[in-house]
Amino acid sequence: MSTHVPMLDLHRQFASIREEVLPAVERVCTSQQYILGPEVTELEREISAYIGCAETVACSSGTDALWLALLAAGVGPGQAVVTTSFSFFATASSIIRCGATPVFADIDEKSYNLNPVSVLQAIAKARSQNMRATAILPVHLYGQCADMDALSAMAAEHKLEVVEDAAQAFGATWGVGGVGGVGGNSHKAGALSKVAAFSFYPTKNLSAAGDAGCVTTTDPEWGARMKRLRNHGSPKRYLHDEIGWNTRMDSIQAAVLRIKLRHLPTWNAKRRDIAHHYTHLFQQAGLASPQGPLVLPTEDPRGYHIYHQYVIRAPRRDDLRNYLTEKKIGSEVYYPIPLHLQPSLAYLGCQAGDLPETERAAAEVLALPMFPELREDEQETVVGRIAEFYS
Ligand SMILES: Cc1ncc(COP(=O)(O)O)c(C=O)c1O
Repeated sequence: MSTHVPMLDLHRQFASIREEVLPAVERVCTSQQYILGPEVTELEREISAYIGCAETVACSSGTDALWLALLAAGVGPGQAVVTTSFSFFATASSIIRCGATPVFADIDEKSYNLNPVSVLQAIAKARSQNMRATAILPVHLYGQCADMDALSAMAAEHKLEVVEDAAQAFGATWGVGGVGGVGGNSHKAGALSKVAAFSFYPTKNLSAAGDAGCVTTTDPEWGARMKRLRNHGSPKRYLHDEIGWNTRMDSIQAAVLRIKLRHLPTWNAKRRDIAHHYTHLFQQAGLASPQGPLVLPTEDPRGYHIYHQYVIRAPRRDDLRNYLTEKKIGSEVYYPIPLHLQPSLAYLGCQAGDLPETERAAAEVLALPMFPELREDEQETVVGRIAEFYS
């Protein structure tokens, strides 16, 4: 029985693919082509085939991917983008970097994703303040797609673009009728709207050996424009049609990602097995609500959750976390301070109490160790320590 359990152990993943990764990195070094180039082009082609989209634009981070996606969707100064406050900072800062204003809607208490009713209210609020709402930016938090049926219908009715923040959801799907997230009417995150952003930050379920990200789009023209924007708005050397930036991807990142992409379906399936095993162990220990203190994650039957994180709601969350840290069990809080209460965004004029479900989640959620190589005995240790805390 293990005593220490890490939140994430990337050494185990590397050990399992070392023999594939090192020759791929060597291939790039031998080519001496370090930025964009054939590895990046091949990665873009492979991601487009996997996601089922027209174009993929590889870039230097998930943050840059959001920025490119928002620009492609026509977001600019004076406009409003409706999004969630329960996310990583880049969700809001990328909107601001386009010159626009984030307008926050509240989340659904079960999925932690945007609540469509609150989105409707946020659209009305933006309009009442004479802002032109241009887009809705849902985040597929923890690896589960937001309610894309409701959000897409709302966007169509109000003539808004949808920009998915799929940073945590590579391989997740939405739409009924498929088996294991494949087939039926199901589509992958990244092909559920015209444009979507992914992060390959090392802790993500598909991760690079450094910073990297990509945008997927169903519109080849948007794809072509984003390819120019990521390279200083340049269609050919030293000609600049519009002002872009340097958000190119390195070839070494692409070479590593191409290898990991082949393993991703197995890794995502493993994450789901681990999540279901946690749920079983918590139920067996009598810790799951309504009998027990913990609220376990739920899966929307319309989606394929890839469990980027396994997140519980826990009473006395901070005390529990301190206890687990003392016992050398990893855990994390995604996210302790909602975006609408961040000091740098105070100018937006939001206050505590504005988004009750978001604020309650920020106080109660706890992410537990989750990675495909996590062992069953380690899961038993995690659940055992949590049982001890509440006993
Ligand atoms: C929801 C979300 N959006 C955006 C990002 C930004 O991605 P990156 O760190 O690659 O810039 C992240 C990851 O950090 C994220 O989790």
